[in-house]
Amino acid sequence: MSSHFIVVCLDCNHKAPYTATSINCAKCGGEWRETIYDYETLKQTLPLQLQGRAFDLWRYRELLPVRTPIPELTLGEGGTPLIRAVNLGMMLGCPHIYIKDERQGPTASFKDRQAAVTIAALKEAGVTEAVIASTGNVAISYSAYAARAGIKLWAFITSLVPPVKMREVALYGTQVVKVTGNYDQAKQVAAEFARQRALYVDRGVRSITTVDSMKTIAFEIAEQLTALLGPPNSPNNKNHPPRSPWRAPDWYIQSVSGGLGPVGVLKGFDELQALDLVNRSPALANIQTHGCAPMVHAWKKNMAVAKPVRTPRTHISTLATGDPGRTYTLLRERMLARGGGTFESVTDDEAFRAMHIVAKMEGLSIEPATAVAFAGMINMVRSGQIKSDEIVVINCTGHTVPVEQEVIGDDWARDAEHPVDDISEEVSVPEDGLLAALNRVSADRYPRVVIVDDHQHVRRLIRRILQAQGNYTLFEAEDGKSAITLIQQESPDLVIVDLMLPEMAGFSVLDAFSADPNTATYLLL
Ligand SMILES: Cc1ncc(COP(=O)(O)O)c(C=O)c1O
Ligand SMILES: [Zn+2]
Repeated sequence: MSSHFIVVCLDCNHKAPYTATSINCAKCGGEWRETIYDYETLKQTLPLQLQGRAFDLWRYRELLPVRTPIPELTLGEGGTPLIRAVNLGMMLGCPHIYIKDERQGPTASFKDRQAAVTIAALKEAGVTEAVIASTGNVAISYSAYAARAGIKLWAFITSLVPPVKMREVALYGTQVVKVTGNYDQAKQVAAEFARQRALYVDRGVRSITTVDSMKTIAFEIAEQLTALLGPPNSPNNKNHPPRSPWRAPDWYIQSVSGGLGPVGVLKGFDELQALDLVNRSPALANIQTHGCAPMVHAWKKNMAVAKPVRTPRTHISTLATGDPGRTYTLLRERMLARGGGTFESVTDDEAFRAMHIVAKMEGLSIEPATAVAFAGMINMVRSGQIKSDEIVVINCTGHTVPVEQEVIGDDWARDAEHPVDDISEEVSVPEDGLLAALNRVSADRYPRVVIVDDHQHVRRLIRRILQAQGNYTLFEAEDGKSAITLIQQESPDLVIVDLMLPEMAGFSVLDAFSADPNTATYLLL
């Protein structure tokens, strides 16, 4: 079927038609490709097509990699408001701060754009089962759209993701696989699982649909800013860009984990320029947490390749991508070639303070990962990096589930009879690893446990840790086959399995276990 776009390989420039499930360039095998649309034709047709269309993500369907959007799949994605931060602006002396309120997406994060476009493309391609790795929000968004589309989803989530988020994923019917390890490891396990079963796996920036979905943030911002402020002025001065019908902000600010958002938004502004709709790209401010800031370190040292952070040290697990890989290199290269910008980091405490400020001043309850961007913006205004007359758009990326407990703890109310002066702001750092995971297991919830590992000493270690913690009935198996028999015989409440068992046995154990809807899945690497 002919299409309104093609994909081009970023390594060898080979151009080819798009297939949702093909992941490599046919010529060089490269995995990094992006879409090209017919901008010359769209220059003429798009402005007319936009007239009278609803303000949602599919408004820009001619620039999305889905041939025929399926109305039954939509949940009202995109078209989020652009809200002027009047009070925050006053506090900071910046009258033109605008909040792109992505909390108002169907599952309350900007990842809804990615899920809506990807699931639509997969449905169009006849895909029935898919795999993702996530720090929480991606899994929630994909789960909602996959449920609607009747696509079976496997979500590999690090065990540090707050349980409230995991439960929401499970509620949609997704197979949840908790991975005791960091996010980069969860991605590896998910990719390996998908490879062995020949399933589609979301590959972040390398997936065509994900980047293109995020372009719609740029399209909407440009249209909304123009509605609020009019088209940009055009002083007759050759240092100024030419006049354009739509307006780009001076800054686009976002908290960043893998970097998908800014890569997509930058591509969006590129396309708007190719269509003569805006006259420049904004400067990007990508904000990370101090405890996991590989991109910030590389940027500050003017390095094109980021050194991975092996052990992220932050409470904000949503942003814990330790190894940004080529995404950083690409993003840096493009920022330098376009509107410039910066990578900055903030502490967890600064983010938590920003959460209070944004809620109390603007009436927006945001999650910690989003607060990271606000904290970054506050620092940048204070340091003079952002000037008072500049137009700033900040992506209010999400508030998927109540997470205030994680941030303000249980001491948020004062007791009238026994007043407490000091409300502690300390939150204990979540630990990772086998021991930490086992410490979270309780004999009340999981009295009967099957331990599957091919090493006897590992099984013995797990047995000893559990026995020290409570009264368990424990069973052991040393390979996948005997584990499955044992699970069928004993119906355990919990299975602790070494995913890296030989011959992919770990995954088959998982299947046998998750076939029974009454049991929870618990996995250890
Ligand atoms: C709320 C929120 N903000 C920011 C990010 C960072 O997104 P990106 O993948 O664009 O780096 C995420 C990623 O999951 C997120 O959920
Ligand atoms: Zn190629």
